[in-house]
Amino acid sequence: MSHVRPLIAGNWKMNGLTSDVDAAADLAARLEGRAPASRVALCPPATLLMEMSRRLAGRGLEIGAQDCRAESAGAFTGDLSAEMLVDAGARLVILGHSERRTYHGETDADVAAKVAAALRAGLEPIVCVGEDEAQRDAGRAVEIVTGQVRGSLPATLAGRAFCVAYEPVWAIGSGRTPTVDQISEVHQAIRRDLVELFGDDGRYPPILYGGSVKPQNAREVFSADEVGGALVGGASLSARDFAAIIQSF
Ligand code: PGA
Repeated sequence: MSHVRPLIAGNWKMNGLTSDVDAAADLAARLEGRAPASRVALCPPATLLMEMSRRLAGRGLEIGAQDCRAESAGAFTGDLSAEMLVDAGARLVILGHSERRTYHGETDADVAAKVAAALRAGLEPIVCVGEDEAQRDAGRAVEIVTGQVRGSLPATLAGRAFCVAYEPVWAIGSGRTPTVDQISEVHQAIRRDLVELFGDDGRYPPILYGGSVKPQNAREVFSADEVGGALVGGASLSARDFAAIIQSF
């Protein structure tokens, strides 16, 4: 079952012009011939989906988007549907990233509706959850993440290919990472939630860690319990750094 393989995905966020697709081709070249310990995906801005999927077709890199709207079509100026992302070459989509939750006010219910839309269109969702610093300091990390997992994952995910990404908000772009024990604690809790929600099917979806993953800390992050890959922001913009992270798995 392809969806049980670990996944290392790069989230380019709002970075990248057509000329930067060369960096993706460079990454594909660096990974050529390596033993496939994980799947590898790049999630560029939507403007690069077509060019990237055209240039990288058949070269071992999967292409994902960073968000979609829950509706398939209609009067939603500026938004993109899951069907449009598939049409542009995406096979995965990041949903519920903390930057979407913060800057666009996305709730768990919004994220669940988007996940359902992604599944309808045939996209594999990467659903993001994670506590902020105040919640971590108050000892509420597991409680917050469990609430987000339960609220953001619709029942229609049962038996479908998807990933959950644990991204503590305070670790994103900050250079700070949780300890291995802290990562293990939350990932184990997410696994328990998935099994409660989806029964046996909940044992398989990869749980990615995200938040300041770099070549220097990747091996340590990957040693934590129930870490089935990573969602990498800043370091995925450099083909050399991202390849080093992938090779650490
Ligand atoms: P970062 O971002 O690796 O730059 O911390 C991770 C993410 O937001 O997905």
